[in-house]
Amino acid sequence: MKTPIIIDTDPGIDDVIAITAGLFAEELDVKLITTVGGNVGIENTTRNAVNLVNFLGKDTPVAKGADEPLLNKLVTASAVHGESGVGGYQFEEKAGIANLSNRHAVEEMRDVILHSNEPVTLVPIGPLTNIALLIKMYPETKSNIKEIVLMGGAAQGGNRTPVAEFNIFVDPHAAKIVFDEQIKITMCGLDITRLTSITTENVREIEGYGKVGDMVSRLLSDYDSTTSTQNHFTIHDLCTIFYLTRPEIFKGKRATVNVVTEGEASGCTVTHYTENGHVFVCLDADVEEFRREFVSTFKKVYETMEG
Ligand code: RIB
Ligand code: CA
Repeated sequence: MKTPIIIDTDPGIDDVIAITAGLFAEELDVKLITTVGGNVGIENTTRNAVNLVNFLGKDTPVAKGADEPLLNKLVTASAVHGESGVGGYQFEEKAGIANLSNRHAVEEMRDVILHSNEPVTLVPIGPLTNIALLIKMYPETKSNIKEIVLMGGAAQGGNRTPVAEFNIFVDPHAAKIVFDEQIKITMCGLDITRLTSITTENVREIEGYGKVGDMVSRLLSDYDSTTSTQNHFTIHDLCTIFYLTRPEIFKGKRATVNVVTEGEASGCTVTHYTENGHVFVCLDADVEEFRREFVSTFKKVYETMEG
């Protein structure tokens, strides 16, 4: 039985890689992709999501969501992902974008969740604005949400500030709403994403995998150095998908997480470890297995697309 999921995203180079892995994962059924302002503005994140779905030959519906955080002004990460959000990579712009909904992402999420026979897993890999809006506007959906597996936060450190990770920093008020909800959450924060970086050797292995390998390797060549060191790329968002398809790779602890919403520490995810916490914080992984999964995933995608 495939797990029904909704990916909420701000593509974004690492988002593109995560979405690609999710769309071809035999364990997952991606019911909907929703977009949010984050890495770049909403028009670019939405265009990137639609172009990617078309590039991959999928018909997954896409719906545009919040352009701005709940209260704060949008802060982007175009320095990391390029002004377009996908570096210098040019996706073919297909005329007549068939799979972009004319309804707001939150409305589409509500319908997918309420009409699903199986509880739906939410996979937010950008700021949590849409998820907070869903919870507040349609609380009846909570009973059919299996869990939230998100990329965001950190038990230790930050990347937008010394104490705040970007997705939480952009919309701390939304993040507080989500983390305060007693919905089961798995937090793939910087603690795990920085550990499970991909090597240049891994990227070299996949660059020959047809158009998808070429796309991924070219995107990563544009991925800013703050996210990649000389020989490693931190593909943050990919952790959420591999957590869902290969949970045995990961280890962590249960916690409650308090989000700081004001002042110099805004966006900090204060992590309190407790056995009965509703948040599972990923803290360790079999890194070599993660890297093998990266290579084998894109080999499978290549063979499926061009085999
Ligand atoms: O901090 C990393 C996160 O911020 C990732 O989701 C990346 O895509 C950016 O959105
Ligand atoms: Ca992202």
